[in-house]
Amino acid sequence: MRVVRTAEEMRALCRAAKARSGCLGFVPTMGALHAGHLSLVRAARTKSAVVAASIFVNPAQFGPEEDYTRYPRNLERDCGLFENEGVELVFAPEAGEMYREDSASWVIVDGLSDRLCGRSRPGHFRGVATVVAKLFHIVEPDVAFFGQKDAAQVAIIGRMVRDLKFALAIEVCPIVREPDGLALSSRNAYLGPAERKAALVLFRSLERARGLFEGGERNSFELMQAARHEFLVEPAVRLDYFEVVDPDSLEPQPEISKKTLVAVAAYIGCTRLIDNILLEP
Ligand code: PAF
Repeated sequence: MRVVRTAEEMRALCRAAKARSGCLGFVPTMGALHAGHLSLVRAARTKSAVVAASIFVNPAQFGPEEDYTRYPRNLERDCGLFENEGVELVFAPEAGEMYREDSASWVIVDGLSDRLCGRSRPGHFRGVATVVAKLFHIVEPDVAFFGQKDAAQVAIIGRMVRDLKFALAIEVCPIVREPDGLALSSRNAYLGPAERKAALVLFRSLERARGLFEGGERNSFELMQAARHEFLVEPAVRLDYFEVVDPDSLEPQPEISKKTLVAVAAYIGCTRLIDNILLEP
């Protein structure tokens, strides 16, 4: 496995790997790897001949008050995990390699970027779309793998790929959960034992919505009411949003008459966690 620091070298190595082996799969990450990331690598290995990954804590997707500086970083550990999973190339640039000081170009996916997490994290999806576009230009993958956990990110990257005519396919992999239901996240590492327990309210609220849906309820407002109620009994957790939306446009969906995304975000102390489920009548 090669760890590459510059865009130029990464592009050359990816092109050579593609010429040699065929289909190139790509798993972009911010490091602090967990089993969710490794499931993306495994999916990439089954669907492509060579797997490239990136580890880059992207400053442009963090707000000024967010956790950019304290975001967990451990390149050596992450590279070991990638190597064990058969990743061939890891791109791990410094911030200056991705953003020159006079960098002036951004990718904005209008509308979608202001919904769900975009509403409480202004500029977040501009940062995500921009860095993912740069990574796609550098790696030139045939298939790129993203986790369903960040459902808004999936919608935004999908729209960007379609609108800007990137020549690649996007594969979305299911959320990986702890045995008690908590969705895996690099940010779970911030939680103390009491917070970890309180954080289960996200999963509980989604399960409550799923239960109502399975009992025949199709009115989104009823689902949201019941799910939000779960948060009233967990005062250590501050609900950011609980929404029922179209998974592609992220627009609110009053009736569940087709595939629907039920998404939640909440703060446990300073830690912001997200989770979601898809419902299909
Ligand atoms: O999902 C993530 O880890 C990040 O948002 C991504 C896609 C690697 C872009 O920085």
